[in-house]
Amino acid sequence: MYYTKEIIQLEYDALNYHIIGGLEMKKLLTIMLFSISLIAVLASISSAEDKGDAAKGKETFNNTCVACHGAEGKGDGVAAAALDPKPRDLSNGEYVSTLSNEHLYKVINEGGASVGLSPLMAAWGGVLSEQDTWNVIAYIRQDVCKCQYDAN
Ligand code: HEC
Repeated sequence: MYYTKEIIQLEYDALNYHIIGGLEMKKLLTIMLFSISLIAVLASISSAEDKGDAAKGKETFNNTCVACHGAEGKGDGVAAAALDPKPRDLSNGEYVSTLSNEHLYKVINEGGASVGLSPLMAAWGGVLSEQDTWNVIAYIRQDVCKCQYDAN
């Protein structure tokens, strides 16, 4: 990206000072450069679905999370009875839409204690790769809570 910008800047300079030099062209190029930067910024704000594969995430969820969170993520897995506090209901869209993808990533990767929740929600960073974790988040968003983060 850095190099691309530099090349565009060089072209801009060349056109501007040596070839065209007209004020209108200068304006046009400024707008073009602005648009390119805007696209770059927008592209970096990607959703969980862009980063992860929900189908693969479902497999990971069923292998790793289901014992506590339950098949539908309701917090009613077979191990849940023995847990206090209970695993969160991840199918609750109203609740999960208050959690950002970064928060979900941190909880899953570093464990409940890393965000002030129970250590019974273990840290999965040693078991799941970064990609596995984004896959699980994509699955939670698409099929479990069926919700997106709502910053408001
Ligand atoms: C050993 C049981 C157990 C397993 C396995 C488990 N969790 Fe949890 N999880 C919990 C508990 C208990 C909580 C609630 C912690 C609290 O409320 O303090 C929780 C909370 C959560 C939360 C809510 C975080 C929040 O801010 O409210 C998410 C998201 C979550 N777990 C995802 C997962 C995912 C994804 C997996 C599989 C990779 C997983 N959990 C595996 C027990 C478990």
